[in-house]
Amino acid sequence: MTVLLPRDKTASRDGARKAAPKAAAQASRNIDAPHIATGDIKPAKDAKKVFIKTYGCQMNVYDSERMADVLAPIGYAPVDVPDHADLVILNTCHIREKAAEKVYSELGRIRRHKTDNNPNMKVAVAGCVAQAEGEEIMRRAPVVDMVLGPQTYHKLPEMIAKVHRGTGEVLETEFDTLEKFDELSTHRNPKGFSAFLTIQEGCDKFCTFCVVPYTRGAEVSRSVAQITAEARSLAAKGVREITLIGQNVNAYAAEGPDGSQWSLGQLIEHVALIGGIDRIRFTTSHPRDMDDELIRVIGAQSKLMPYLHLPIQAGSDKILRAMNRDHSYEHYKNLIAKIRASRPDIALSGDFIVGFPGETEADFEATLKCVEEIGYASSFSFKYSVRPGTPGASLPRQVPEDVKSDRLKRLQDLLYAQQTAFNKSLIGRTLPILVEGTAREPGQLFGRNPYLTGTHFFGDEALIGQIVNVTITEAGVNSLIGDLAP
Ligand code: SAH
Ligand code: SF4
Ligand code: F3S
Repeated sequence: MTVLLPRDKTASRDGARKAAPKAAAQASRNIDAPHIATGDIKPAKDAKKVFIKTYGCQMNVYDSERMADVLAPIGYAPVDVPDHADLVILNTCHIREKAAEKVYSELGRIRRHKTDNNPNMKVAVAGCVAQAEGEEIMRRAPVVDMVLGPQTYHKLPEMIAKVHRGTGEVLETEFDTLEKFDELSTHRNPKGFSAFLTIQEGCDKFCTFCVVPYTRGAEVSRSVAQITAEARSLAAKGVREITLIGQNVNAYAAEGPDGSQWSLGQLIEHVALIGGIDRIRFTTSHPRDMDDELIRVIGAQSKLMPYLHLPIQAGSDKILRAMNRDHSYEHYKNLIAKIRASRPDIALSGDFIVGFPGETEADFEATLKCVEEIGYASSFSFKYSVRPGTPGASLPRQVPEDVKSDRLKRLQDLLYAQQTAFNKSLIGRTLPILVEGTAREPGQLFGRNPYLTGTHFFGDEALIGQIVNVTITEAGVNSLIGDLAP
């Protein structure tokens, strides 16, 4: 059985593509070079190739970008296919059994590819499976050269050097979130016009179904200064929308420029002052940490998009208690009422788990009732997945798989009907769309509306990166079609 590593109790909350300078690019080619701060450094022409495959949540997307940033100064350029890569990194997710198992099947494919075509390729497993099952990975998959947990990827250059020197097993699963952020440069090389920015990482909530407190460690917030420096760097590279991310962003608490402890609401107001940043989002929030200041900012800050992801997981108080969510359905409902009073146009999104141990038909119906009463514009819903080492795994009255499947279908029928109805309610409205790129159909562009729904319309490619008005003409369950407004 896998034993999850204990989280680090010592971490504190108070945390805080242009041409490269020639000398830096030269130095960066030496694989044994010590850690070099990342900046506006582009890999040299004869760069090595790194292929990074990302699983899981937005934080892994962010982490993958940052790994690429860390690797650029030592001469690695990202590639989109693993075929000729010198280094393959799997950035993994442990949240549900299926997500974790994917890693081993992918490693099997990589092993065959390495043996048949690319014997010098090095393989790294990063992310949450690396943290939870590091030693097991090394044992089960000898193709793996390096295992690194989410708080150690700033050490990648050092680890790669060790692998090349052949000094044996390279496994890094320490929890020092603040050291990681202090080592990472705040310079970014964003891919598009919308970017994630980690402001808080880790979790102290210990929901009984969840691995995150074990894989990401204790809740740690980055300093306002670090976050704003990174946000400015993104804005300077043309980013128009920033999503502030963390496992529990509304528990954000770190030092502000005035030396006092700042909350998420204060941080949002501060980021909103940065020129060029027109849209701000944040995710994920926990219903226990939504304070009145944040609810006020949600209503008052026009750069904040009217879309809130606020998971409840289940509608029954008995199940919420067993999950250790530490709030009731009533609390959630009142919170939503307050948020809607502050920002009447807010669209809600949520996460749901069906089939948590002990969930009866009546408990499940309470989840359906919650969805009917609250009304969601979008959602993520899952069958409970037993995670080794979490309290939920040893609870009695596990729910049979077929019951879970039936409940998930009934829940999703309701959620998707709500999502479709929400999307259809937008027909005829003219909405600002941040244009992210071209769509599959020639001449068509793709972007997102304030509610994060993908929107397609015909327009000139020169509009990419701009925020344009589009009148919605058609709506499906997952996307919208519209016409550029005159
Ligand atoms: N911090 C966030 C969620 C992070 S995990 C929060 O508290 O809301 C993302 C989602 O995955 C969770 O909201 C939950 O719905 C789902 N999830 C987590 N562990 C799970 C498990 N063991 N089985 C099924 N779904 C799970
Ligand atoms: Fe997991 Fe709960 Fe923490 Fe969210 S709040 S990351 S669900 S333990
Ligand atoms: Fe998965 Fe880790 Fe994110 S378990 S959901 S990648 S925090």
